Parts: sequence; structure tokens; C-alpha cells
Amino acid sequence: MTMSAATTTPLITAEAIAQRIEELAQIIERDYPGDSPIHLICVLKGGFVFFADLVRAMGPRVTMDFIALSSYAKGTTTSGEVKLTKDLDAAIQGRDVIIVEDIVDTGLTLAYLQEVLRARGPKSVRTACLLSKPARRKVDVQVEYIGFTIDDHFVVGYGLDYAEQYRNLPYIALVDLNK
Ligand code: IMP
Ligand code: MG
Repeated sequence: MTMSAATTTPLITAEAIAQRIEELAQIIERDYPGDSPIHLICVLKGGFVFFADLVRAMGPRVTMDFIALSSYAKGTTTSGEVKLTKDLDAAIQGRDVIIVEDIVDTGLTLAYLQEVLRARGPKSVRTACLLSKPARRKVDVQVEYIGFTIDDHFVVGYGLDYAEQYRNLPYIALVDLNK
């Protein structure tokens, strides 16, 4: 299989991401007083790098699970169709749940996931996204914790892909699809 080599331009450095995740971890723990578990749900695949750093910046109250959704078929345009491709291992009834996503773009994926999870009777559901592109929003979806707000650019790295490539870039970069 041949890999395309598009041009990438750094947008958010690894250092800036690390610092922001430390801040988010502190804010989140402060928002949940007491020592009851905080159940973090990683949205695969894009959320896995952010998730790994966020959970390690938090204390022993964290429990975790993984879910996978597919929204984009291939490339950079959304189909608007969301499918659950891997469900959680455990029930979330009565738990304080935080969805951990890579990016909220149109908001369709998140709106769908929030609805699916709320129907399972958790104590609470909040959402943490590393990135948000508000200019692209199609549905008004609530995101309590946002790492960075960015303009309408297609970005890769730190879990985010272009056709499954670049997820392992340790920073966020713009991808120039014409090169
Ligand atoms: P939404 O449903 O339009 O909000 O898009 C959600 C999903 O699309 C995200 O979880 C990403 O997987 C993908 N996505 C949206 N924007 C980008 C981007 O700029 N780069 C890579 N993936 C993206
Ligand atoms: Mg995603």
C-alpha cells in the first residue's frame, strides 16, 4: 500500500498541548468534588492520544472505557451519518461520565453519542474535546471542556488522521491536501 505525502504545517506544539491538558485535568477534577469515580470514555480512534495524556494527568478516581464511532468515510467531508462500530464494555448507569473526543467539527458525531449515552441513565454526561471548530457547527452540541478553538482548517496529528495517516504526529498540524 502506498502512502501519500501531503505537506503538513505545525499549528499547535506538543508543549502547548501538554500544558493545556494539565490545566484541563485540574479543572475537571475540581468540577467533581469528593472522591467518587470519574468515568472517562475514549472515542476511538481519534481520541486515543488526548485520552492517554488526559487520564495520566488525573488522579486515581479515573476509570475508563472505549467506544468507536465512524462518521467520516474517507477524506475530509462528513457524510452526516454516524455508526457505533465498537460499544462500551461496561454499563454507565449512575456514573459520572466524560466523553473524550479529538475534535468537534459539525457536532453531528458528538450529538449522536451524547444521545446514545444519556439514554443509558448515567448520573451525568459531560464532554472533553481537544479541539473545536465552531465555524463548522451544524448542530448546537454542548462541550464543557475544550483544549483549543481553531479556525476552519483540516488538521492532523495527536490522534487525528487524514485517511488514517498522521495520527502519530506528536503535535497538531495543518495538512495541505493540494500538495
Ligand atoms: P463531526 O461529526 O463533524 O463533529 O466530526 C467528528 C469527527 O470528524 C471527529 O471526531 C474527527 O474524527 C473527524 N474530523 C473532523 N474534523 C477533522 C479534522 O480537521 N481533521 C481530522 N479529523 C477531523
Ligand atoms: Mg473522532
